[in-house]
Amino acid sequence: MRILLGVSGGIAAYKAVLLLRLLREQGHAVRVIPTEAALRFVGAPTFEALSGEPVTTEVFDDVPGVQHVALGQGADLVVVAPATADLLSRAAAGRADDLLTTTLLAARCPVVMAPAMHTEMWEHPATRANVAVLRERGVHVIEPASGRLTGKDTGPGRLPEPEDIAREALAVAVAAPPGEPAGPGDLSGKHVVVSAGGTREPIDPVRFIGNRSSGRQGVALAAAAADRGAHVTLVAANVEDSVLDAAGAGPGGGRDAASAAGPGRAGGVTVVHVGSTAELADAVHAAAATADVVVMAAAVADFRPENTPDAKIKKVPGEAPAPIRLVENPDILAGLARERRRAGQVVVGFAAETGDAAGGVLEHGRQKARRKGADLLAVNAVGAGLGFGTASNEVTVLDGAGEVVARAAGSKRAVADAVWDAVVKVWS
Ligand code: CTP
Repeated sequence: MRILLGVSGGIAAYKAVLLLRLLREQGHAVRVIPTEAALRFVGAPTFEALSGEPVTTEVFDDVPGVQHVALGQGADLVVVAPATADLLSRAAAGRADDLLTTTLLAARCPVVMAPAMHTEMWEHPATRANVAVLRERGVHVIEPASGRLTGKDTGPGRLPEPEDIAREALAVAVAAPPGEPAGPGDLSGKHVVVSAGGTREPIDPVRFIGNRSSGRQGVALAAAAADRGAHVTLVAANVEDSVLDAAGAGPGGGRDAASAAGPGRAGGVTVVHVGSTAELADAVHAAAATADVVVMAAAVADFRPENTPDAKIKKVPGEAPAPIRLVENPDILAGLARERRRAGQVVVGFAAETGDAAGGVLEHGRQKARRKGADLLAVNAVGAGLGFGTASNEVTVLDGAGEVVARAAGSKRAVADAVWDAVVKVWS
């Protein structure tokens, strides 16, 4: 998503830096538009370095590009955090006296404002009237949190935490669909994170240890969730563009150029591309900060080479190859289940099993469900033409105690919908 982050001049401007970083880590392209006063609290280089984009407060910069209109026109979402009493007042009056206020007039996308000020200022009839005007015009004004303010005072007026602002703002962005939802809409306003594909652990700059996961099941999960109204972060480990197309998140869906909602789709899919398990872990943990559900459908390497030389390993004629020592990767799913980032967050795992002398597919699945601590584990049989790279799938969904809660067979999309049905049941 292309997000404009407006920052006005209050102490809480430092939290805009954290919000910026969070949105970037989730794969969004963010351009910061501070007011002059905001730059007295946080310097432009900080915003420029973290966003990778230029920062200006002036309508007279880049005049040929008609920047004051172009920025607003090209945005998918505008978030103003913190929004001071002065900014709310200027926006309510329709003023256009700096780049941020002109951009607010030019934007046709959802606009979210997170006010921050002292309680007296927040409760003043002038501010209340400005907020009422803005809300009437469709601006989503987030209620400030209550708590410690800049001085010794406490009360309503505190800027909410960056994770909460990001979550609410992204939910607003996806709740404004072009057209009707294609699915039941039961994930509307939810942020879901799905990992897909298979990780690659580098041996040297040209070789890796990988697996045969195509990412189709994860992509089907992302597409189904978006159709049911969710805002989806799809963390894609080495998934081909042709497979990503199915999520409406085709080749353009790179780290920065995230895809948006398709026609008739309520939610949207933002793709974050990763390679190794370490990259996957970082991306999933960052996105999980604001997620209602995290589904680990990626095939994650359990081990990685202990050392990865910068240069290609050469064979020495006549000599035996040097052994590759492996070290264990962290278990991302178990970590997410142990340390829930938000109350009520549902964590879902997938287990691809072949069965062996020690037990059948389901028995291995039951043990894994209890071991991992996830709320749900979707178990499927792989090997001998089943599972990897095929269009259809068959899964048994277990709860954390290993009890069967659902079974689904058919296309990966049908399996995906069965998994989301099970997630919705956990909430109810
Ligand atoms: N998983 C993970 N991090 C890892 C390994 C696996 O998050 N390091 C997740 C997978 O994404 C999947 C679930 O755990 O959702 C089960 O993966 P699987 O490879 O079947 O589990 P393992 O614990 O590696 O068990 P096994 O010994 O069968 O390989």
